[in-house]
This record gives sequence, C-alpha cells and structure tokens, in this order.
Amino acid sequence: MAQLTVLGPRDWADGVAQRLAERLRREPRLRLCLPTGDTPSPVYERLVALNREGLAPFGQATIVLLDEYVGLPPDDPARCDARLRRELLDLLEPGPVTFHAISVDELAPDAAAEAHDAVAAEGLDLALVGLGLNGHVGFNEPGSTADSPTRAVDLAGESRRAATARYGAGAEPTRGITLGMARLLNATDVWLLVSGAQKATILQRTLVGPISADCPASLLRGHPRLRVLTEEGATAKLS
Ligand code: PGA
Repeated sequence: MAQLTVLGPRDWADGVAQRLAERLRREPRLRLCLPTGDTPSPVYERLVALNREGLAPFGQATIVLLDEYVGLPPDDPARCDARLRRELLDLLEPGPVTFHAISVDELAPDAAAEAHDAVAAEGLDLALVGLGLNGHVGFNEPGSTADSPTRAVDLAGESRRAATARYGAGAEPTRGITLGMARLLNATDVWLLVSGAQKATILQRTLVGPISADCPASLLRGHPRLRVLTEEGATAKLS
C-alpha cells in the first residue's frame, strides 16, 4: 500500500524538501536518485535554502541521475544533468557531492546505459521520481514493465514535445536513457512527487487504475515502501 501524503500548494515543495533534508541528516551517506523537470524544481529551490541553513547536508551523499536525453549538446537548457547542476548541485555547500550523470557525450547510448546501470546496481537508498502526463517514470514510457532494465529508449511524443515546449531544448530529442523500472523498484524507498491540477487524471490512473505497463507509474504500487507526496491540486480525481 502506497503511503499518500497530500500537501497544500504553498506547503508542498517545502514539505518534500523538509522530508528529504531530514532523511539526509539521519543518513548523510544516502545514495539518492534524483529527477529533473518542473515538478522537482521548487523542491530543489527549498533544498538549497535548507542547505544554506545547515539543515540539508549533501556533502557525503551520492546522487544518481534518473534519466537523460540522447543527442542534445551538453549546454542545451533541457539537458537533465545541466539542469540538476544548475538548480541544485552547484548551489550546495559544502560541495561537491558525488554526482553520477549519464555519459551520453562520451559513450554510445547502449554503453552509457550499461555504465549508468552499474552505478545504480551498487544500490539506491531512495529514488525520487516525477509523474509524466502519460504515466511515465523517468523515460520508462508506456509499455515499460516492472522488469524493464536501464536502457536507451525511443521517447514518447509527450516526452519529445515537453523537451522543446517546456524545457527549452534547441531541437526535439527522439531518444533517451533511463534507469529501468527494475532498478527503481529495487531502491529501498521510492518517493513519487506530483504537483499541479494537470496531473489529476494520471495520478488517479496511477493510484487507482489497473497496475499495468500502460501506466508505468502504476507499477510502483508493487514497491513495499512507495510514498506519494502530492500537492492538493493533483488529487482532484481521487475520492
Ligand atoms: P514534469 O515532468 O515534472 O516537468 O511535469 C514529470 C515527468 O515527465 O516525469
């Protein structure tokens, strides 16, 4: 059973950040998978503030990136590694934390996926993930199953369009690399972050609909320690 925590629009980002900060204080050597996107951005802003107050110690943590585009240059604004550095990692004191980006510039996609999987295979204490409008988790697009490995994938139309329309990519990417559902389901804890009324339908499908590859996020319900941290606006279709 997923543990559902609903927070008001003004409290959500801070509430998530406070919970993560508390976990870091308890477990400073946390191995943490982090996503990028519009959902986590305000959480990272709050985490930076907490870090400045000495309340979010990242100095000994290991950060493993959830996913990355293939084919975007390193300085593209949509690049997941650059965005995580810009919004969080570069702003933390003390730094640097150990950060495992995905080697899309250095390696061919399959080799980059394999190398990243080896990092994740050392264990993840906590995986934070967002919820795609199509139910994807990372770039585990619809059709992904609970045993999907870390791999290079064709991006779904929603993901391609989001890269340009919402994240400012200079060209529409068609491929990505993602930690697989299998790795995410192997993390000790999984926190699904959800905010905004536009996520109400997919959150309802995720939590109440059939557990199915059609909505990969629903597969997270098979995780014994899934925590859903959602902003109130996204819960409109949950009864
Ligand atoms: P978003 O993306 O946080 O920008 O809405 C979530 C996702 O696609 O995983």
